[in-house]
Amino acid sequence: MRRKLEKFVDPLPNIPLLKPDKKTKDGVHYEMTMEQFKRKIHRDLPATTLWGYNGQFPGPIIEANRDEPVHVTWLNQLPNKHLLPVDVSIHGLDQLPTVRTVVHLHGIETKADSDGHPEAWYTNNFQKTGPVFSRKTFTYPNHQRGSLLWYHDHAMGITRLNVYAGLAGMYILRDEQEKSLNLPTGDYEIPLMITDRSFNADGSLFYPSQPDDAAENLPNPSILPAFNGDTILVNGKAWPYLEVEPRKYRFRMLNASNTRSYQLQLDSNITFQQIGSDGGLLRKTVEIEKIGFQPAERIDVIIDFSKAAGQSIALKNDLGPDADPNDDTGDIMQFRVTKSLKNKDRSSLPQALSVIPSLKQNHIAGIRYLKLVGSADEFDRPLLLLDNKHWHDPITENPRLGTTEIWALTNTTNFSHPIHIHLVQFQVLEHQPFDLEQYNRDGKIIFTGPPVAPAANQRGWKDTIEVSAATITRVIAKFAPYSGEFVWHCHILEHEDYDMMRPYMVVDDSKTEDES
Ligand code: C2O
Ligand code: CU
Ligand code: CU
Repeated sequence: MRRKLEKFVDPLPNIPLLKPDKKTKDGVHYEMTMEQFKRKIHRDLPATTLWGYNGQFPGPIIEANRDEPVHVTWLNQLPNKHLLPVDVSIHGLDQLPTVRTVVHLHGIETKADSDGHPEAWYTNNFQKTGPVFSRKTFTYPNHQRGSLLWYHDHAMGITRLNVYAGLAGMYILRDEQEKSLNLPTGDYEIPLMITDRSFNADGSLFYPSQPDDAAENLPNPSILPAFNGDTILVNGKAWPYLEVEPRKYRFRMLNASNTRSYQLQLDSNITFQQIGSDGGLLRKTVEIEKIGFQPAERIDVIIDFSKAAGQSIALKNDLGPDADPNDDTGDIMQFRVTKSLKNKDRSSLPQALSVIPSLKQNHIAGIRYLKLVGSADEFDRPLLLLDNKHWHDPITENPRLGTTEIWALTNTTNFSHPIHIHLVQFQVLEHQPFDLEQYNRDGKIIFTGPPVAPAANQRGWKDTIEVSAATITRVIAKFAPYSGEFVWHCHILEHEDYDMMRPYMVVDDSKTEDES
């Protein structure tokens, strides 16, 4: 096996911004090419073959302004053979060229035909129906609040492998309200994409062929598909360090890992000042020592290094008291407060950040009770389902355009799932625990406690939320501004691919009437 990698030896890479191809009346146009390339992930590891956007991992950052549409042509120039072992998919897609891709911009409000529907995939030389083509142009209207979004692959049944190979990048949407707050900017606003990977001794990515091999080799074959890498990468480097000045910095963090969640902590007496979540700024700043960080979530924090000159501070992942001493994933990266202050820090850390109207004020059209369920396929392979339905079952979630609904996400498994709904930013109403043993005995939900309000840092706009084991998490969303077919799913990519994803339809009544 590969020898252990020394931590904090490579500087944190700065993710470059993507330059637009052109600007026209209808917005800003970009082109992004998915391709294979090699990159060094760590000083002592041979270069790794990766897939990425424009030959980069993470992909270049797209910076957008509110109300200025962005059009991206996503071009697939990947080889025809997958970088990773591809298993026989439960969707029978192994009959088709394996390198199918489609890009989803996570957190965006856009029309269904620009959302990157999992079945809207294409390859570099093949398409399910119609003529051969290898590119699609998607439009992002950006009529929403400033926030950190991210783009990643979403092709049916193969998302976990495509994203693991490197197909992920960040998209920063700016707005005037946020600009007026005088938060740290420029060199002092730093995006951090946190992921985990495992490597073979030759530097190549390691990923078990799933789920058949994994199920056979695991002590407990009923264990559910999951993948946790043994190496933590930030902006594509293993355990990097960043030299900082003794002042405030704003970090825009994204958990782009397949399965791994983190408990973020700093190993000093400095705390995080969390100012934003998935859908942008919170109402007010939340001082917080430890932040739970699920796949696909975004966390916007200010860290003030002004009293830490000369210190080295690690960003940690708290593994808890029972952690294996050989587990290296308790470290993420290191900040070295070694630079001298270039200019006086004139940025602010406001307490009041933004206005978020509560969706509870809206008329509520209905409540959907949706179960997260553990199951098995015809070969007894573990499978996770949403409300006991498979991907191809008829659509059951069909909110009417412009209406507000409550979705009661009921987790009947014994581990957490980060549930993501496309198109909307929702609000978390409450979490309520129930008795799982009782449920397993007779299917009855008996609550073991009252509903608990979401934590202070979960009270802003969210598009992904952790639903803990044996818990109902109630979220409220207004299904607008577009009708059409979108998806909702668990964002553990191994779950999403095995079959924890469902289509849903936002129904526009006025359209149906017109047509009939
Ligand atoms: Cu981040 Cu449906 O995805
Ligand atoms: Cu999404
Ligand atoms: Cu899950």
